[in-house]
Order: sequence, then structure tokens, then C-alpha cells
Amino acid sequence: MAMGSDMVPVELCKGINGLDKIVLRESGGSSAEVYLYGGQVTSWKNDHGEELLFVSSKAIFKPPKAIRGGIPICFPQFASHGGLESHGFARNRIWSIDSDPPSFPTVSSSKVFIDLILKPTEEDMKIWPHSFEFRLRVALGPGGDLMLTSRIRNTSADGKPFSFTFAYHTYFSVSDISEVRVEGLETLDYLDNLQNKERFTEQGDAITFESEIDKIYVSTPTKIAILDHEKKRTFVLRKDGLPDAVVWNPWDKKAKAMADFGDDEYKHMLCVEAAAVEKPITLKPGEEWRGRLELSAVPSSYCSGQLDPQKVLLSS
Ligand code: BG6
Repeated sequence: MAMGSDMVPVELCKGINGLDKIVLRESGGSSAEVYLYGGQVTSWKNDHGEELLFVSSKAIFKPPKAIRGGIPICFPQFASHGGLESHGFARNRIWSIDSDPPSFPTVSSSKVFIDLILKPTEEDMKIWPHSFEFRLRVALGPGGDLMLTSRIRNTSADGKPFSFTFAYHTYFSVSDISEVRVEGLETLDYLDNLQNKERFTEQGDAITFESEIDKIYVSTPTKIAILDHEKKRTFVLRKDGLPDAVVWNPWDKKAKAMADFGDDEYKHMLCVEAAAVEKPITLKPGEEWRGRLELSAVPSSYCSGQLDPQKVLLSS
């Protein structure tokens, strides 16, 4: 669906409950939405206008509750791996538009992007006493790919390093979880959140889903594929600086226990989260870390004609 010539590629407008959001529109017809609340992507649509991310129908778009769906940013702590609130505080802070970010050393082909920034307030410093600048660029590529780049800098003047864990907590929209498989994580080690974070090795082929899952796969390849057989769609994740990958689906019991999640919605979502969890990142003053995620959604027939996951993973 081609857009008219009057299309605004980057537009600041009001979203749910009057929260500020930015809409990105790429000339081929794909689009994305980013809320300043959480610096959170809440929509990514392909050139047919189909939504590719899951957002719960019960999501609460109101601080301090984080928005249930899209791509929450987990920082400076993943889940309960530390003393802070679950997944840290970046996902429930109001970010700002960064109108003049330092240039990126790598040239991105995308011209449709928004730069956001989060700096700690005095209140934040009380719970996590470290000065930082977190810059997030959300970009739409010419083919509709969604690209997120995070740059986190230690700006402290006290000479102290800090450590953090991180995840792009991506909620993918899937047709039916029982028809989905994830390729690229088989035979890897994982920490099982459902078993006291104990370490196991994944056995067998691709990962499929028939019950609750909450695993942190460690030292994963840079490319992971999610194959949705019913939708005939494959999501390809490419990541850089993010060695781990979390796979989460709450299944029926936990779904019922979450106030901001529909009882049956677990059937239509899957979180595959590019992350740095097992080995926290440490930054000395003045140092910067970068973590990048690139998402593509391709019709499965493009991959090989018949869903050959190896080809999906090996192709560039
Ligand atoms: C996942 C974690 O990333 O996020 C799970 O691995 C957690 O343990 C889930 O339950 C959702 O977390 P929250 O805080 O958004 O309900």
C-alpha cells in the first residue's frame, strides 16, 4: 500500500490517554509507533498494514505501569536479576526526543527514524546511584525492517563504573502459539527462570510451545528466526552486542494472574528478547555500550519455498 506524497515520515502526536507518541512512516507503506513513555515501540506494521507486534487489549497506557506489549526496554536490570523493580525502571519513565544526538559511526541507510534519550532524575539516582545517558534510535528501513539501537554511556563524574543487564523485551504477534517454532537456539545452554535459574542444555530440534516457558538462552547466535506456520510468516531477529535471548510465554495460568493481559492472549504472542543478562555489562566513566536489534518479517515462502529454517538462518 503505497503512501501519498504528502506522507509525514516522522510525526509527533498524541496516543492513548494523551501520551506522546511518534509515528514513523516509510515510503513503501510500513510504519511504527513509539511512545515517549518507556521509549517503547508499540506498533510495527508491514506494507499491507498488518500489525507484527503484540500489545495486550488490556494494556494500561498509564504511568507507572509499563505498557504490556510492543518492545519494552529492560534497563538497568533484567527481570528480578538484582534488587530493583522487575525489568528496571527505563520502561516506566518518560523519555525525551534527542534532537541533536552524537553521530553514529556506522552509516544507516534509513532516513525514517527518531532519537530518544533517557537520563536519570534525582529520584532515580536514589534507587540506582549512577549517572548515565541512554540514547535510543528507532528506525524503519526501506524494506520495512525495524531497527533499534541503544547507546548507554556512563556520565558519572565520581570515577565509578556501573554494571547493568538489558533486554529488548519484544512481544511478537503470532497466529497460534502451537503453530510456531523458533530456530537458532537448539542445543544451546539456558537458564530456566521456572527452575530457580538453573542451567540446562536444550535438547532436540527447534523450540516449539505447549506450556509456559521462561528461559534465558546464553551465548546465542546473532540471528534467530520465529516461524509462524499458520500465518506463513517468518520473523528474523539480528542482534549485535546482545549475547543472550530470552524466550517467554506465560501460558494460561500466569495469563489469568496478570491484570493487564487477556486470559487467552498467550495464544497470540511470543516474547523473544535480545538481551545481555548472564554477564552484566560494565561501563567505566566515559565508556559507551551499544546494543542493536534488527527485525524483519518475511513471507515464509520467500525463505526457501517451504519453510527451511536453516536457509532463513544462513541467508544474509
Ligand atoms: C520475561 C521474564 O522477560 O518477562 C519473565 O523472563 C517475566 O520472568 C516476564 O514474567 C514479564 O515480566 P513483567 O514484569 O513485564 O510482568
